[in-house]
Amino acid sequence: MKKLGTALSHVSSSRRGFLKSLTAASLLLPLSGVRAKNNTTGTSTAFKSPPLDYGQRKGDTVNFTLTLGTHKTRFFDGVETATLGINQSYLGPVLRAKRGDKVRIKVNNQIGMPSTLHWHGMILPANMDGGPHQEIKQGESWVAEYNIRQQASTLWYHSHQMHHTGSQVYHGLAGMFIIDDEHSQKMDLPQEYGVDDLPCTIQDRRFNRDGSLAYINSMHDRMMGMQGNTMLVNGVITPMLKAERSLLRLRLHNGSNARLYQLAFSDRRDFQVIASDGGFLAEPLTVGTIRLGVGERVEILVDVSDKPVIELQNQQSAGMMGGMMGGGSAMTIMTIDARQAHPSAHPIPTKLRAISGIPDLKSVVTTRQFDLQMSMGMGMMGGGFRINGQSMDPARIDFQVKRNSTEIWEVSNGSFMPHPFHVHGVQFHILDRNGKQPPSDESGLKDTVLVQSAEAVRLIMTFPDYSDAKIPYMYHCHNLEHEDQGMMGQFLVV
Ligand code: C2O
Ligand code: CU
Ligand code: CU
Repeated sequence: MKKLGTALSHVSSSRRGFLKSLTAASLLLPLSGVRAKNNTTGTSTAFKSPPLDYGQRKGDTVNFTLTLGTHKTRFFDGVETATLGINQSYLGPVLRAKRGDKVRIKVNNQIGMPSTLHWHGMILPANMDGGPHQEIKQGESWVAEYNIRQQASTLWYHSHQMHHTGSQVYHGLAGMFIIDDEHSQKMDLPQEYGVDDLPCTIQDRRFNRDGSLAYINSMHDRMMGMQGNTMLVNGVITPMLKAERSLLRLRLHNGSNARLYQLAFSDRRDFQVIASDGGFLAEPLTVGTIRLGVGERVEILVDVSDKPVIELQNQQSAGMMGGMMGGGSAMTIMTIDARQAHPSAHPIPTKLRAISGIPDLKSVVTTRQFDLQMSMGMGMMGGGFRINGQSMDPARIDFQVKRNSTEIWEVSNGSFMPHPFHVHGVQFHILDRNGKQPPSDESGLKDTVLVQSAEAVRLIMTFPDYSDAKIPYMYHCHNLEHEDQGMMGQFLVV
């Protein structure tokens, strides 16, 4: 357990107090340098994989129950922090299902305010999506039921409450969702959960002196999105992973609100990227660093057979503003101590899986433009975050697409900072970035794509055969503060 320092005042336990801290910006001074102190006192915190939830199988249905609740979490020694959690005090279990399963997920809301639970990356009917239109009131429940039709992949789930997604996710309403399939389970890859197959939800958080989570203290937080100075993996501050095997598979998930990572190991060793948002790449790709925008996932293999002690680091906050925010030096995300690692039974594979190829350009029926816009100054609160000049309005459907049809979406960013663009209900391929082929780690299926300032990215996607004449899917910037302030739109699949 990390030490918070000397000023220990316990967090108010009343729900009212908690809700107040969720909605009002705290005036307490931010806690800076917490991590540095921990490092010098040598306290370390063990890496923790979230509990794995396979649900209850009844006939052809797999039943899950998730309860969103208010909790207190000990991130620091002897200090309780008010958090939100799903079946536990902060974040949720790792849900696991297999292609061909029908899942039935009952979501109970006990957080004292409306919420939703969205299945990020899942291809499903619009009324099961868990977006802003499937709101669950305090004390009520919602059942999501859908068939898992897509290939093995690392997806996630999180609150998508209109205007409150940032705050609710920040306080803990998120978790990972792993899909297996008949091939993935037979692949010669590390797949012992918590041993050599490790979920890693990476988040940055800022704590007040009393241990409470600080959320939006300034115009800067509102404009850039909420970034913290303390790194957590699966809800543990800069954890220490004692590697048990010499080849590790890390499912890296950027579960932050707004931070863009440039991930690398402290000794700059190479590693292999094996999967992106929507599933495996055709073959492993050897790299020394990888960029991960909010909402994106990659699976990597890292060979630690030389028994090192290394850190997974954020090399710098990429992007123009990142440098201005003191992001120039490396931040430790977690430490891997492989001195006791046993030899892995798995080699680094040479081939993975032939993925579903990029749709034929001749099949494209429509090309759409999306211009991501943010304006600074006084207008910020009143819809300064827009797509194509419009701020999100739940009553406005922006366009319709035809089920089973293929479209190209050209997403351009004329603003001064990067935006991670996400589309619900579909997995896409990146055709090009400013006319150039994307890097190989972006050759697979994606549901979220980082669009840099002055960049135009073309996506190609074939919509599934689900349709709904009334209930839309969302597309938006996954910088949660941008989304909450209007950088979102909605479309129907008919
Ligand atoms: Cu990860 Cu619309 O969400
Ligand atoms: Cu989503
Ligand atoms: Cu954005």
